[in-house]
Amino acid sequence: MERLFNPRGVAVIGASTNPGKIGYRIVENMVKSGYTGRIYPINPKGGEILGWPVYGGLADVAGDVDVAVLSVPADHVMKAVSDCGQKGVGHLVVVSSGFSEIGNLAGERDLVAAAQAHGMRVLGPNIFGIYSAASRLDATFGPGGILPGHVAIVTQSGALGIAMIGKTAAESLGLSALISVGNKSDIDEADLLAYLADDPSTRVVLLYIEGVKNGERLVRTLRQVTQRKHVVVIKSGRSARGAMAAASHTGSLAGADDVFDDVMRQCGVLRAESVQEAFNWVRFLASAPLPVGEDAVIVTNGGGIGVLATDACEKFGVRLYDNQPVLASAFAEVMPEFGSSKNPVDLTGQATGQDYARSLDAVLARPDMHAAVALYCETALFDTRQFADLLRSVYRRYQTTKPIVLALFGGERIEAMIRELRSEGIPVFGDVYEAISVLGALYRSWRRLNEDEGEPEEPPAIDVEAVQGVLRRAGAGGRKFLLAHEAAEVAAALGLRMPRSIVARDLDQAVRAAETIGYPVVMKVVSKDIVHKSDAGGVALDLANRSEVVDAYQAILRSCLAHKPDAVIEGVEVVEMVRAGVETIVGARQDPSFGPVAMFGLGGIYVEVMKDVSFRAAPLTGRVAREMIGSIRSYPLLLGVRGERRKDIGAAADVVLRLGRLIAECREITDIEVNPLVVYDYGEGVKAVDVRILFEVQGGDAA
Ligand code: ACO
Repeated sequence: MERLFNPRGVAVIGASTNPGKIGYRIVENMVKSGYTGRIYPINPKGGEILGWPVYGGLADVAGDVDVAVLSVPADHVMKAVSDCGQKGVGHLVVVSSGFSEIGNLAGERDLVAAAQAHGMRVLGPNIFGIYSAASRLDATFGPGGILPGHVAIVTQSGALGIAMIGKTAAESLGLSALISVGNKSDIDEADLLAYLADDPSTRVVLLYIEGVKNGERLVRTLRQVTQRKHVVVIKSGRSARGAMAAASHTGSLAGADDVFDDVMRQCGVLRAESVQEAFNWVRFLASAPLPVGEDAVIVTNGGGIGVLATDACEKFGVRLYDNQPVLASAFAEVMPEFGSSKNPVDLTGQATGQDYARSLDAVLARPDMHAAVALYCETALFDTRQFADLLRSVYRRYQTTKPIVLALFGGERIEAMIRELRSEGIPVFGDVYEAISVLGALYRSWRRLNEDEGEPEEPPAIDVEAVQGVLRRAGAGGRKFLLAHEAAEVAAALGLRMPRSIVARDLDQAVRAAETIGYPVVMKVVSKDIVHKSDAGGVALDLANRSEVVDAYQAILRSCLAHKPDAVIEGVEVVEMVRAGVETIVGARQDPSFGPVAMFGLGGIYVEVMKDVSFRAAPLTGRVAREMIGSIRSYPLLLGVRGERRKDIGAAADVVLRLGRLIAECREITDIEVNPLVVYDYGEGVKAVDVRILFEVQGGDAA
């Protein structure tokens, strides 16, 4: 990647002397950005562009060409690739459209294969180019004027990426790199992230993603990068693909966007809702120092705005300093008489600019107060010019040691003040919510930077070979789901506790089975001819004694034969009646974007309505499994409500881990679901009531 970002020479194939053409614009931007290497415009017509001679072909170039930008129509691309291969080019930046984005998959495959045959990597096709601050290279057809800085943008959208160039310039946001990835035929986000993680001038990476191609690799890379740099993502395209592929609860609950959201959180990536939010975040993350602790203090002149900020702190995960005696003494000297030293510290509407400056000093000078939020509602008492100077000087004094954000609210004078301070790089906003949102983003990313991934864990012991054996046998006839007894075998190989069950061929056996298992029991008809057992009257619940078992046995036989007179009834299955507990659902599946993912959620009959589930890329660690369980809205039910005892969360996490390992190691399984997994009180474990498995065995259909 070094050759792509720091090329010694860049050829532009399709460079044109016509300023209306993309091939001209690219050369123009390279010249204007002050690219430090050699520029080689290529066009059979020859000539000169902005002082650089145009070469008739790559073969005429004597110097080293590390990067070739291809700006010729799609049907000329293969010839250019071959010329680049002959020349020993390292990277192709293929601007041309006309490949997989319009269904030309073969053309794109051929392009990559031809490039790889010469050891070249391909960026694109269908892109607007690349900018690298390291070599002052703007090889894009964007508007130019990119400022060097510390934010790297990797974008899948061309139009939005080009628009971002203008926006970064308007917001004085400096970039270390800007890469358009387009169709991602070869180089993708993971390749670029791996490079940017080591790039000393990149502090923050902003990803704009429309669809994930190689999700497993992306997850692995992101997990490493977020331990070193801030990563923000904007994702569009709330695709229905995941839901379409769904054939189970796990699938139908897995809206593609929900999985993306959860997996990004797992990776420590900050997901922004809008481009503006993403810009606010990356701007702040690129300039703010890392906090040394969690405790922030809000200083305000208005109670209402202080409460709004407090609410926003809760939403964005900003913790407020809470030692009341210390707050009272810290602000005793600087607080007007009517003020409140509770956090938010309310200086009241009669506060002056000096009061603000002294209060912020009181916060920022203390080692136990780690970040400051200054809120201001315009009043007549203020000289805004003097106020701007005071804020500027407090900010400058502490800008390298403590995170500081400001939110000012008022009329035209305030708006002008915001514009002025922002243009100087001071994080000031016209809205409390935006100010707290950027501070929250910094805290979330900082927690990830400090997160200890822990020692590698011993994976849970599961018998993958036994599972594969069950799948092979079941799939031999082309079947793609497991029958109940096969699923029970898989559950045993996974080490899951299922209810005890015995198949009885006659009434005597049924009674003996019930007595062996212990009352109460459930009875279900066993017949290949009866698919929907309940509809046929083939299920009896909560049988408490011998006579209830006898009655139920006869009733089941009667109603099943009435339902389907020619049904062959093999017997009844007598099953332990599962005690009540908290019903949860645990699943795992092969996700179309991220590969193996695990799911945990609240189970029971409302599962579809509540959709209270969380996803994580598998395999997981014990810590991730517990964190995943803790992230559902109904988690308090597992902690025990109204005097109930805490539930056995560790045992539930163990099931999540086991399913996560299975789905990662046994790719034949497309979906596995334990529903419900009943979770009992702490120390009493869990019970997997029903296990369903869908799978695809290679060659299974043929057998
Ligand atoms: N070697 C060198 N030069 C060549 C070759 C070759 N093998 N073949 C043709 N050329 C020259 C042409 O003669 C022409 O030069 P001229 O202006 O002197 O006549 C120049 O290369 C360009 O060729 P054109 O046929 O004029 O093509 P044009 O510039 O109109 O379009 C382009 C080429 C821009 C690559 C176009 O095919 C295309 O794909 N456009 C879409 C780009 C795009 O949108 N990318 C997506 C990301 S950005 C976003 O979405 C907003």
